[in-house]
Amino acid sequence: PRRIGILTSGGDCPGLNAVIRGAVLKGTEVYGQEFVGFRDGWRGMIEADFMSLDRTSVRGLAKEGGTILGTSRIGPYRTPEGQPDRILATLARNGIDGVIAIGGDGTMRAAHLLHADGIPIVGVPKTIDNDLDGTDYSFGFDTAVSVATEAIDRLRTTGNANHRCMILEVMGRHAGWIALHAGTAGGAHAILIPEHPESLEQICAWVTSVHERGRSPMIVVAEGFTLPGMTEAHSDRGLDGFGRPRLGGIAEVLAPMIAERTGIETRATVLGHIQRGGVPTSFDRVLATRLGIDVIELVARRQWGRMVALRGTDIVSVALAELQETKSVPPERYHEVRVLFG
Ligand code: F6P
Repeated sequence: PRRIGILTSGGDCPGLNAVIRGAVLKGTEVYGQEFVGFRDGWRGMIEADFMSLDRTSVRGLAKEGGTILGTSRIGPYRTPEGQPDRILATLARNGIDGVIAIGGDGTMRAAHLLHADGIPIVGVPKTIDNDLDGTDYSFGFDTAVSVATEAIDRLRTTGNANHRCMILEVMGRHAGWIALHAGTAGGAHAILIPEHPESLEQICAWVTSVHERGRSPMIVVAEGFTLPGMTEAHSDRGLDGFGRPRLGGIAEVLAPMIAERTGIETRATVLGHIQRGGVPTSFDRVLATRLGIDVIELVARRQWGRMVALRGTDIVSVALAELQETKSVPPERYHEVRVLFG
């Protein structure tokens, strides 16, 4: 393939630009390929809205957060222009022989369907949530964990000074990876994740025992966590770009409950998009750069319908068709750290 289109789709994530840079540098230098970047994810591909990408346009990008291409949660197939025959015609008209889609589970599902419909496409996994199947880690996760860990460190000093219980809510959608890692790194007294139920009684018992030792109880809760019997979304924040209810707000639900039961003043902090913005950590820069470099090998060998992935320390590839829904935190990973709670 001579001319390759790249797009970033779904929520943004630190490291996207490093992937673009790695792919463009490898493709231009080793295979003499040309690159274009579709603007705002699938929309740019469907509407043939793109910019050319060369050595100069990716200079210094490894450290930049966000994505120079823009992103959106718009999916193909939703409009007549998003149908495969129209996309193929658009690609042919613009001389584009292959597409690299960088995104999360929704993007990989769309890429799989497009590949099945004859579009030459490969995937690169990204999400701060680390819930994408097929890869040990996704870039953006380490950055989010670092930001959340710093937040815990900061909350701890103010909590200790005021003898308060502090609750930090982190992202992760229906997976507890960010909470598990940041909570472990920050020495949280309780980590609450969607994959594992904990009762209010148990949470309050941990809080009380920490308080009795003269410390400020520190709880890290994943946005997808619910108490047993709590079925509704905690807050009415409308729908996200995929039509799913927005998560978040559990920390503010828990804080008054804990305060009332324990008599300990409690404060909630929702970290929000701070954990998704800014510069990637060095780990994420390296992972994203390697994925960008290696996805060019899939393209060069026309191994369409596959996604590059991290397995141990190696970059491998997996068939998009084989990806499972969500990579949840396994029970043993939770129980491993649960012994430290309270
Ligand atoms: O999937 C990444 C993520 O940041 C989730 O952790 C979070 O639930 C969601 O995206 C937030 O989406 P938005 O940026 O559309 O509010």
